[in-house]
Formats: sequence, C-alpha cells, structure tokens
Amino acid sequence: MKLPRIVQAGDPVLRAPAAPVPPEMLGSRSLKELVSTMVQVMRRAPGVGLAAPQIGVGLQVMVLEDSEALMGKLTPEERETRGRVPFPLAAIINPTLTSRSGSLASPGGLERTAFFEGCLSVAGYMALVERDLRVEVSGLDPEGEPVHFEVEGWPARIMQHEVDHLRGVLYVDRMLSRTFCSNEEAKRWINEPVADVRAALGV
Ligand code: CO
Repeated sequence: MKLPRIVQAGDPVLRAPAAPVPPEMLGSRSLKELVSTMVQVMRRAPGVGLAAPQIGVGLQVMVLEDSEALMGKLTPEERETRGRVPFPLAAIINPTLTSRSGSLASPGGLERTAFFEGCLSVAGYMALVERDLRVEVSGLDPEGEPVHFEVEGWPARIMQHEVDHLRGVLYVDRMLSRTFCSNEEAKRWINEPVADVRAALGV
C-alpha cells in the first residue's frame, strides 16, 4: 500500500482546528485504517508522534510511540536531560490536555523545560521550545474506550506537540525563534547545555 505523504507547513490543513471524531466513527473500520496508516507513516519517517492533519485528515486523532531503537544513539546523560523514556504505542482520539505543575519526583519543582524540538511537517529544522514538564491527557482509544495518561519529560513534550497539531498550532508558533536552526546546524547545539545555546544565539 502506498502511504500518504506528510503534509508540510504552508498547507492550511495544518492551521485549521481538527474536528472531533464523531461517535459513529468510533470502533469503525475507517478509523482503524486511519490509525494504522498514521502508525506506518510515523514509523517510516521515523518520528515519535503524528497527528491526522499531518496526512491531510482534519480529525482529532494522534499517535505516539518512542522506543529504545529511536533513542539508541543517545547517551544515558542525554536521555536524562531530555527526560526521554520509552513510550509504548498509543492512539488517542479527541484528546484533552491539562498541565500539571511540578514533576512526579519534585511536585513543587521546575514546571517548564526547554529543549530542541522538530516536526515532520517542518522538515529540516529544529528550535528550542519551552513546554510544560508534566501533563495529563484524556481521550478515547480507537474503540471508543476512555484512556488517560499522566506523563512527564519527553512523552509530555510529544503529547503537547501533537495536541497542538489538532488545534492548528505548530511548534514554530511557540519556539524561541532565535534558536530556529537547520538540522545540520542543530548538531552543534543539541548536546550543549540549553543555557549555553540561549547565550550563543542571543535569546
Ligand atoms: Co509535528
């Protein structure tokens, strides 16, 4: 089967709020096929998340998955800095996202965290984006059963990025714009302390 291409920034489908999946579509073959296609597109890219508008479908459907294979090149320190942990495949329909203050380890602690983020729909670039450290997401699975996630670190970043897609928001709307860089130039910054990157690029 030929997979759909990933829509790039400039296409209005990425800028329109996606419609909720209607009740009659839950558990349907068409929804399962959409989710299956999205998972294949995400894995082929490869990426850690994909929202339906990114394949031109204006529905509130997102898929996420992070695995050892995708983070294989990161050192233990780099994983720690990013809060990057494996996240099993999830498909979430009609999500709602709530910020939770602090982290699970220190409830009164740091609430926002900046790191380099990219997007399959803004191919070739990255930038520092501040995100909430910890969020809760509720929604439905493709069968229509309620699902709930409480996540922090990298999975929380992915959740915020994908829910943004369903609201017509791209990371470029939230980035520290002076840190916007090509993937090639990002190589020099990606493992540097964020404070150093901010200083070097004049944030
Ligand atoms: Co994206």
